[in-house]
Amino acid sequence: MCGIFGCILKNGVAAPIVHAALKRLEYRGYDSVGEAAIYKNKLFIKKDQGKIDDVHAVHNLANIPGRIALGHTRWATHGAPSQVNAHPHMDCHKQIAVVHNGIIENFAEIQRELEELGHVFRSKTDTEVIPHLIEEELKDGLPLSEAVREAVKRLEGSYAVAIISVREPNKIVCARKESPLVAGVGEHGIYCASDIPAFLPLTNKAVIIEDGEIVVLADDRYEIRRISDGNPVLREPEVIDWTPEMAEKQGYPHFMLKEIHEQPLCLRNTLRLQEQYLDLMATFLERATEVYFVAAGTSYHACLAASYMFSKVALLATHPVIASEFIEQHGKAVNIDSTILAVSQSGETADTLAAVEWARQRAATILGLTNVVGSTLTRVARAYVCQQSGPEIGVAATKTFTSQLSVLSQLALNVAKRRGKISHTQIEDLEEKLQQIPDIVATILETQEAKIRQLAEKYKDKQCFFFLGRGISSATALESRLKLLEIAYVPSIAYPAGESKHGPISLIEPGFPVVFICPKDETRKTIMGNIMEMKARGASIIAILEEGDEETKKIVDDYIEIPTGFPEVLSPIPYVIPLQLFAYYMSVERNCDPDMPRNLAKSVTVK
Ligand code: AGP
Repeated sequence: MCGIFGCILKNGVAAPIVHAALKRLEYRGYDSVGEAAIYKNKLFIKKDQGKIDDVHAVHNLANIPGRIALGHTRWATHGAPSQVNAHPHMDCHKQIAVVHNGIIENFAEIQRELEELGHVFRSKTDTEVIPHLIEEELKDGLPLSEAVREAVKRLEGSYAVAIISVREPNKIVCARKESPLVAGVGEHGIYCASDIPAFLPLTNKAVIIEDGEIVVLADDRYEIRRISDGNPVLREPEVIDWTPEMAEKQGYPHFMLKEIHEQPLCLRNTLRLQEQYLDLMATFLERATEVYFVAAGTSYHACLAASYMFSKVALLATHPVIASEFIEQHGKAVNIDSTILAVSQSGETADTLAAVEWARQRAATILGLTNVVGSTLTRVARAYVCQQSGPEIGVAATKTFTSQLSVLSQLALNVAKRRGKISHTQIEDLEEKLQQIPDIVATILETQEAKIRQLAEKYKDKQCFFFLGRGISSATALESRLKLLEIAYVPSIAYPAGESKHGPISLIEPGFPVVFICPKDETRKTIMGNIMEMKARGASIIAILEEGDEETKKIVDDYIEIPTGFPEVLSPIPYVIPLQLFAYYMSVERNCDPDMPRNLAKSVTVK
């Protein structure tokens, strides 16, 4: 996610304060940085692609006059990292500066409307529609806060914005919908930021801005109103007793737990992908003679789940392939009729890029799904989609996995529409259920976390686990195993439950923990048989099951309930959530570091 910051000082120069605050937001990950300030009714802006220190060395970010300023660290979603795409963005007359964190879903439509009114756009970002919208509203003589309120009412998607204007040079106007925003009230000034670490050294008095609220900061006071009707909202500051390190994790003990809890927001953002990107990818996939999904680690598990989705929804056979095995396994078969969809959160995994390069040299079509705009994968792919999950600090992939699944589900549905193998009613139902997934994930996080933590305490000394599932749940089993193995160092085995009799069941002895992922889908009858097989040999059965599944509850030792009402092809997203939490709490129980597990790196850039 991007980082925004604003400050109004009672006295002194704001730019150095903003510069220091942006450094405190660096941990969020970014590719560009910028500042804006107002001095003697003139707007000054400095911005560029690159790290803060490098941009500061060239542009001297702290050297801008004025006691009111904004700052921004950009994590590109729309528009590659570049100086022109860096924030702040301005209106036509360079009188308004805006910094933004989030995704404007309807920016293309608004931009067309504004261009017809004569507005000239400089960047390729979704954000730039905001200053031009405000410029239009100001033409009606509205005060800045009302112009901002009318402008943001037009926006669909997620935003946390901060705006300054030479028209009212002693104010900052902020507003939020879904993306986080907080204000800080200090002795020497007043601040707004994406999160508390940015101003914690300046004040520990924070005012949390809720969804659908607009805030006007002026000198030493703030005024909150509802965006919908402009009615005032009274809210006192609260004293924050976090250390700066805790504040970076928004109060969570580890980035991994924070990122697990970010998944509802990330899934909502992933559902805001621009249709044209999905259409382009689906066009290539639909035309392909042979489709390979290529990835490593967690991204491979997303590909494995996707192969079930494409087969069941689009009736298209695909090959999920572990990147490091691709050349050996399929290298000779790859040709101009092959299409490779490479999935990589970092876009830099050496094994995946090596497979892509091999295929590219054989004239295959290369597609990409990544979380990092500007990564190597985006440069070598003929077309790519950015999953818009924001930076993932924890080494273990969590929010990026469920976001990958959401994008892959959307692609499978898009291809299904084109191939016409299932009815429009079935497709519309799947699309509607996919829109409900973020709320389902939020419900699981709210209602099951305490029980999962207890399970981790109960099983913390176990020396080996099985993770079993059938059908698409076998991908969920593999991913859940990897989480436990990589951050709690617990040897774990995952495989399709039907394989038990072909060897693995020899390991079972009384008390051996076996985790079953068992939604009530087509595999139910057979998975119940597998549970009974394990139970007969004394295994301790932990089931991730559908709420209300009384039959399974009776025969297992422990269970976690998942809300019902969504199709099996979407089940890996909700069913993995409790097992991400289980791995996290097992890691904590075993005194491991969930964020930085031994021997592992966030991006494996060596083969
Ligand atoms: C998953 O938790 C691990 N961090 C690792 O398996 C990771 O998924 C793998 O290295 C692939 O990374 P990528 O998605 O950036 O290509």
